[in-house]
Amino acid sequence: MAEINRCGAALLPLAVALIGCSLVAAGAVTGGGSARRLLVDNGLARTPQMGWNSWNHFGCDINETVIRSTVDALVSSGLTSAGYKYVNLDDCWADNQRTKEGYMAANPEKFPSGIKALADYVHSKGLKLGLYSSAGTRTCSNRMPGSLGHEDTDAKTFASWGVDYLKYDNCYRDDSNELVRFPRMSHALRNSGRPIFYSLCEWGYMDVATWGGSYGNSWRTTGDINDTWTSILNNIDQNDAYAKYAKPGGWNDPDMLEVGNGGLTHDEYIVHFSLWAIAKAPLIIGCDVTGISKETLGILSNPEVIAINQDRFGIQGRRVRKYDDEIEVWAGRLSGHRKAVLLLNRGATSRRSITATWADVGLRRGLAAEARDVWKHETLPGRFAGRLTAEVGPHSCKLFILTPVGR
Ligand code: GLA
Repeated sequence: MAEINRCGAALLPLAVALIGCSLVAAGAVTGGGSARRLLVDNGLARTPQMGWNSWNHFGCDINETVIRSTVDALVSSGLTSAGYKYVNLDDCWADNQRTKEGYMAANPEKFPSGIKALADYVHSKGLKLGLYSSAGTRTCSNRMPGSLGHEDTDAKTFASWGVDYLKYDNCYRDDSNELVRFPRMSHALRNSGRPIFYSLCEWGYMDVATWGGSYGNSWRTTGDINDTWTSILNNIDQNDAYAKYAKPGGWNDPDMLEVGNGGLTHDEYIVHFSLWAIAKAPLIIGCDVTGISKETLGILSNPEVIAINQDRFGIQGRRVRKYDDEIEVWAGRLSGHRKAVLLLNRGATSRRSITATWADVGLRRGLAAEARDVWKHETLPGRFAGRLTAEVGPHSCKLFILTPVGR
């Protein structure tokens, strides 16, 4: 398969090459084959992005004190060392209207020092800064302008401030197609003079997974998550349908983490984080990390679970077996001939015995494997051949790495 970089015009058909090295005609992007070929390839997102975003916990109540103390807490809690690098301001960071000259500007009450100063602070701690806008005339809160029609100006402004990431939403759109509006910002970012991670927040309206990889580094496959068991499962189920489109450089995004926001039990948050890990979803923390509890920190910084998410192969694990409405097995290939295997009990009442067969997880029949429980940090005694069975409580899961022995 011919892979291209963003200026790899030589490998493209002439008609497409003439359009430009990064903006490909909408009609040229159809089906998974094209999505895998026409990579955005801005060098970013070789593994799913890890970071923090303001929206799930703070909504519009953000300001520079909140963000600076979040940065400090990410560093002092060890979350930064665990891999969380992006600090992303969501909606409501900007002034309500553009300046007279047509530029987007920081809200002067919330961010009196401006975004450049904030970016400098974030960078001084070894982290990266993200901003938010919309492929419409306003953002979803209707408290700040969107970038529709101002893509080049805004991309250059963000780059001049030292911004590293843009989440780009889909509110207040005109009647033009997503396949027109989202590529425009992709093109603008790539002309901005700075590598900027491009996170499409298109909500999966136009099967974005099938074309998002041509333009961006991740794409929301779902509507908004909330801090409930139903929402988390709905989003990951919807996201699962697009597994084949995820790859190094571009990831399916079932929305940001709710771990630590208080709506779920500890076991349910472990399910949430395990599913996001195995599905190679972006790990964007959505809670207040300044007062983070030991339990929440334990989930978010589990190195073995993070390693599954960040595996260099970048293959999205998926549901491989559904026994009934409660019991499922999810599995995904990892580097080193290993498999990640998740035994999931979605039921609310009973403890269940769940079996992953080698046929379902993609191991050769007869192969013996060691099983590592990555939540308990322990390798189970003995070796397993043909199947692995474990007891799983209600609204809980077990997450294992299977490593073949004596292949
Ligand atoms: C949309 C997005 C959310 C969040 C809000 C902000 O609903 O999907 O993730 O960014 O807008 O208003």
